[in-house]
Amino acid sequence: MSESEKGNDPAAGGNKPAANNKDSMRNIILVSLMVCFACSVVVSSAAVFLKPERIANKLLDRNKNILETAGLYNKETDASADVDQLFSQFEVRVVDLEEKRMLSVVEAKDRGIEAATYDQRKASKDPSRSKALGDAEDVASITRRARYSTVYILRDEGEISKLVLPIHGYGLWSTLYGYIALEPDMNTVAGITFYEHGETAGLGGEVDNPDWKSLWHGKEIYRDGRVALDVIKGSVPPETSNPEHKIDGLSGATLTSQGVENIIAYWMGEDGFGPILKDIRG
Ligand SMILES: Cc1cc2nc3c(=O)[nH]c(=O)nc-3n(C[C@H](O)[C@H](O)[C@H](O)COP(=O)(O)O)c2cc1C
Repeated sequence: MSESEKGNDPAAGGNKPAANNKDSMRNIILVSLMVCFACSVVVSSAAVFLKPERIANKLLDRNKNILETAGLYNKETDASADVDQLFSQFEVRVVDLEEKRMLSVVEAKDRGIEAATYDQRKASKDPSRSKALGDAEDVASITRRARYSTVYILRDEGEISKLVLPIHGYGLWSTLYGYIALEPDMNTVAGITFYEHGETAGLGGEVDNPDWKSLWHGKEIYRDGRVALDVIKGSVPPETSNPEHKIDGLSGATLTSQGVENIIAYWMGEDGFGPILKDIRG
């Protein structure tokens, strides 16, 4: 057998240089790198091509949550409903929580805010678009609050018939994200939804139980101009004073319940939407 026929087969006593061996370390590393590169190209291309779809799905989900809070959609029973068409009933507006007023569509555009796609969550993490909250004002334990928020208005013959507001704050384990819908008096609750949280299923996680959410309908937020909504421990007794301001606490989840009360206190208060609601009422 010639040297070239023997190749690198030790049995055949070959002594071909390692560089020409298919199983050499160099070749293994090279092939691994090529596979990694090919995979990363596939993954990043998929991420780029699917980005518009991801954004559209995120918006669709947001719209469903807003519709559900306003009582116009039910995720369980209206799966085939035309969400875009239902959502088109809403007027999406931007409020400036620093200037404590609703901006006109032109003002919002001038400030570079596209109401339909504005991401308040992202803005709240950006120091140039949010403010840090001191301990005393950070009732909902959110650390920072975005300067601008979007609000969702339903109108009936020109008058506001429902207003949906985004709310968030800390429960026991996590930040809860949701919406609250108000009746035209800007005081009575028309609906509440928590669409994202990390509370324990069966305990704090009951914030998204439809039975508990239904207890909020008709409850009133303000008494004598101050936020008075109270998520109490246990059930609201029939003979209690001011039952219109009281909601049953979640069983075995007093801390999440307290978190929800704090969320309402903050977002309906002076640093949240309170002054804007007062304006609309006025
Ligand atoms: C594993 C585990 C998970 C819990 N998850 C929650 C929760 O999500 N929300 C909550 O308020 N309490 C939760 N708790 C209970 C709290 O620690 C606390 O006991 C409770 O909020 C007190 O409420 P109660 O006075 O109604 O029992 C959890 C407890 C355990 C052991």
